[in-house]
Amino acid sequence: MLSEQLIQQCQKRIEPYPCEGFVYGKGPQNPSVMFVGEAPGETEINNGIPFSGRAGQYFNQYIEYLGLSRNDIYITSAVRSRPYKWGTPRGKEPRKYNRTPNQKEIAAHAPILDAEIELTRPSIIVPMGRIAYWRLLGKSPRMEKVTGIPVETSIRYLDDWESNAYRFSSKTYTILPIYHPAAVLYRRSLETDIYKHLDELKKIINRLTSK
Ligand code: URA
Repeated sequence: MLSEQLIQQCQKRIEPYPCEGFVYGKGPQNPSVMFVGEAPGETEINNGIPFSGRAGQYFNQYIEYLGLSRNDIYITSAVRSRPYKWGTPRGKEPRKYNRTPNQKEIAAHAPILDAEIELTRPSIIVPMGRIAYWRLLGKSPRMEKVTGIPVETSIRYLDDWESNAYRFSSKTYTILPIYHPAAVLYRRSLETDIYKHLDELKKIINRLTSK
């Protein structure tokens, strides 16, 4: 269980930025897989359930394909509040839109993800999309170069909460990057690749959990 004190500290850290709501990570201790997304959207901050909006429908298909249920896995994200921007649809009232979190917002909530990884000790960590990849590995390659390829690597944790400096862990983790489930909303052609990447994930889960 994450301490409420840590959560409150991180909620304070994100206060200066246009972000709203707070969604807790969900899942058991020692999950076979920890999925790391980007940030919740409007649906998620209203109902508190990660990946319950449009991207969530694709995410549910991922886990069903893997033969898993939400009870078997840990679901979290780089940022736990919804980053928004205002916009005005033609002829309508101004409204909030989701946007990608920036580096300061990611750093504001980094201690939460660090604590979740340390407390739940997942066998495999799956960053979904470029934000989660950057948060954990500190690089921004083209996703098609890294998705579906497992790596045994150290990961970044926020070492200095003032300067927002990260360091790499001494422990190594099995990481399998995949596309963010929302990616198919924009590029349907990714679907074939996504299922190849999930096949790879299935193999790793079977190998690591049958030890
Ligand atoms: N994207 C995320 O990263 N998390 C959610 O809960 C929804 C969309």
